[in-house]
Amino acid sequence: MERLDKFLCDSGVGTRSQVKAILKSGRVAVDGKTEKDSTRKIDPKTNAVTLDGEVLGGYRRIVVMMNKPAGFVTATEDKSERTVMELLPEEMRHLDLKPVGRLDKATEGLLLFTNDGDLLHRLISPRKEVSKVYYAKHEGTAEEADVSAFAEGITLRDGTRCLPAKLEPLGPGESLITVCEGKYHQVRRMMASRNMTVLYLERREEGPLTLGDLPRGQLRELSEAEIRSLES
Ligand code: URA
Repeated sequence: MERLDKFLCDSGVGTRSQVKAILKSGRVAVDGKTEKDSTRKIDPKTNAVTLDGEVLGGYRRIVVMMNKPAGFVTATEDKSERTVMELLPEEMRHLDLKPVGRLDKATEGLLLFTNDGDLLHRLISPRKEVSKVYYAKHEGTAEEADVSAFAEGITLRDGTRCLPAKLEPLGPGESLITVCEGKYHQVRRMMASRNMTVLYLERREEGPLTLGDLPRGQLRELSEAEIRSLES
């Protein structure tokens, strides 16, 4: 048994205060009878809880795509830096969302969040080989020898071996880089190993997902079809 207000919060209906107001307005029913008492105990397996007539499940899996701006660290908390969690709107703060992988403080672009622990682990596992595409502005110009070195697998300056990756020169000082793993500062270090210091980095794609026209600093929830495309 659990309290009705907690059940409604966990179902993604809203924050505690929003749920309180929703209950007060008479939009929630338990087994067909309007219920306004937030302390009411319910059993999610046997009681049918509805909001505006729609049946609610206890847990709603969600995946959110953010277009991360520079200046925020990817962490759930940090003593001195602003974190990406601060960019989540108020109504998403109670959903227990965690960032999927990491973008550096200075890196912009596609960052996923989910409350589904299994999906999170599958997406960050190097065995799953989810490819990520980055746009980089950098010193120097990528040459054929750099493209071949990426295709063979870069050895970083500290001796770490990277999996084969794709380097596509776009012009002087601009390239697209596709990698399937997420080592610390990976793209910056791969480029540095070829003497091309990265000046700007943006993640544009992750697996089947692209940033599209999502504005910087904004988020959108993925559809069920998009979540399934990530899992396949
Ligand atoms: N590689 C990097 O160097 N930085 C990122 O944020 C992501 C990939």
